[in-house]
Amino acid sequence: MSDQHYVVVGGSHGIGLEIVRRLTAQGASVTVLSRTPPPIEASPAVGHQRWDATSDSLSSDDLPAKISGLAYCPGSINLGVFRSLKLEALQADLEVNLFGAVKVLQAAYPGLQQTDRAGVVLFSTVAVGQGLPMHAGVSAAKGAVEGLMRTLAAEWAPKVRVNCIAPALVDTPLSERLLSSDRRREAMAEVYPLKRYGQVADIANVAELLLTSAGGWITGQVIGVDGGLSKIRTG
Ligand SMILES: NC(=O)c1ccc[n+]([C@@H]2O[C@H](COP(=O)([O-])OP(=O)(O)OC[C@H]3O[C@@H](n4cnc5c(N)ncnc54)[C@H](OP(=O)(O)O)[C@@H]3O)[C@@H](O)[C@H]2O)c1
Repeated sequence: MSDQHYVVVGGSHGIGLEIVRRLTAQGASVTVLSRTPPPIEASPAVGHQRWDATSDSLSSDDLPAKISGLAYCPGSINLGVFRSLKLEALQADLEVNLFGAVKVLQAAYPGLQQTDRAGVVLFSTVAVGQGLPMHAGVSAAKGAVEGLMRTLAAEWAPKVRVNCIAPALVDTPLSERLLSSDRRREAMAEVYPLKRYGQVADIANVAELLLTSAGGWITGQVIGVDGGLSKIRTG
């Protein structure tokens, strides 16, 4: 894969960092866009560009001329009852999850066109396909991401493949408040048919497939990686 170059927006920690590690282990080079650099920036295969999805613009000139695949990882988990949802909070969810992705995808389109069957991965959440209380803001924003994904998968076929991963709870900096004690961790694990919450490797396994030629016949899909939560009841 030494001639492959990927863009991982939000590759400085969490799921995105694990995706960067997977791609560089395959011999690819990766450009990371995020507010802080990844801890592996010293690797010659990884370049970092400081970029804030909520405030910065982006043009094609800021990205590699040829892009083998792109993952957009910035996201949010702001939970609360619907009657208390402030429009400002919904706007913030939309900015980081949807508007940032739109800016990146518009800038990346020329580079993606230079690769046959380039792979794009966007992130949704289990709370779009299954109604969960307290998730109004994030489910609305991620639902919009799923709609965008399907449109782009159609509009950009056959040159570019576009898919979403819809995780349930994964142990990352984003979710640390939900997993902040042993009691919470045990309670969260019990929610899942597979009796554990997710690890970054669970999600990066699927992202790696969708980004690379191994997933070359997959497009327009929302792949649930959620310990069975969205589809299975065990009791
Ligand atoms: N973790 C979960 O339980 C869970 C569940 C369902 C869905 N998801 C989705 O999965 C995706 C990845 O989640 P994660 O848990 O890995 O998140 P994370 O730990 O918060 O990592 C997010 C990455 O995006 C970057 N980022 C965040 N805000 C940004 C901004 N405004 N501009 C540029 N970069 C930004 C962060 O880097 P900097 O801070 O350096 O900018 C980081 O590299 C998200 O879309 C999330 O909504 C996660």
